[in-house]
Amino acid sequence: MGQSVIEQAAARLRQSSRAVALTGAGISVESGIPDFRSPGGLWSKYDPLEYGDIRSFRMNPGKVWRMLVDMDRMLHDARPNPAHYALASLEREGLLKGVITQNVDSLHQRAGSRTVVEFHGHGRTARCDQCGREVPREALKLQDLPPRCGCGGPMRPNFVFFGEGIPRSAYLQAAHMVERCDLLLVVGTSATVAPASHLPLMAKSRGAFIIEVNPNETELTAAHTDLHLALPAGQALPAIVSALGLAIHTEGK
Ligand code: APR
Repeated sequence: MGQSVIEQAAARLRQSSRAVALTGAGISVESGIPDFRSPGGLWSKYDPLEYGDIRSFRMNPGKVWRMLVDMDRMLHDARPNPAHYALASLEREGLLKGVITQNVDSLHQRAGSRTVVEFHGHGRTARCDQCGREVPREALKLQDLPPRCGCGGPMRPNFVFFGEGIPRSAYLQAAHMVERCDLLLVVGTSATVAPASHLPLMAKSRGAFIIEVNPNETELTAAHTDLHLALPAGQALPAIVSALGLAIHTEGK
C-alpha cells in the first residue's frame, strides 16, 4: 500500500534542510476567523473595492472602520489552533526555518513561532494616516468612527490595504527565505493576491518542492504543487508532526 500524503509530506520535511511555510487566511479558519474568498468569507460580506482599498479608506474612513471593527472583534477573540502549534513545533525541532504569513492576526507568534514575516503587516498597532503617529491597538477608542489622532487625522491599522505596497523589510526577508528554501509548505491561501502569490513561483523556479495544504484546489495546485494535502490545516499539520514522531508544543506564548 503506497505512503499516505501525510507520510509523504513528513518524509519530504525530514529530507529537507531549508523548509519554509507560507500561510494565508485558511490556517486561521479553525480559530474562528473566516477567510476572505470562500463562501461566507469576509469579501462576501464587504465589497473589497469599497472596504479593502486604501483609496476607499481615504475617501470614507468611517465606513471602512465599520468593517475594521468587525474584523477586530474576530481577531481579538481568536486563539491559535493545532495548525499554528504544529508549525511552531516544526520550527522548534529545526525542521522549519520560519513562517511567511499574509495574516494580520499574530496567531503564529502566539503559538510560539519565532521567525514570522508579516507580509501584510499586523493589527497590534495603529497609525495616523496623516502624521504617522503610532499607538497600540488597545489605545484606540472605537466609539466614534473613524478613531482620530490628536492631529485630527484618521487612525488606520498597521496592515496593508489593496493599493498599498508590501512593507519593504517584510518583502526582502520573504524573498530571501523563499529563494533559498528547498521545500515550501503553502497553507490556507488561494494564492490569488500578488505579490504574495509570486512567492511559491519564486521558490519553485529555484527547485523547491511545493507541498500545499488546502481542502480546495487553488491557482497553484495544477501548475506548481508537487504534493497536495486536500485537508484542513488543523488536521493535516498535526498529523505530519506526529508522522515525524514528534510532539506538538501547545504552550505557545
Ligand atoms: N485549512 C486550510 N485551508 C483552508 C481552510 C482550512 N481549515 N479553510 C479554508 N481554506 C482555504 C480556502 O480553500 C482558500 O483557498 O484557504 C484559502 C483562503 O483563501 P483567501 O480567502 O483568498 O485568503 P488568502 O489567500 O489569505 O488571501 C490573500 O487577500 O484579501 C486579501 O490581504 C488579504 O491577506 C489576504 C490576501
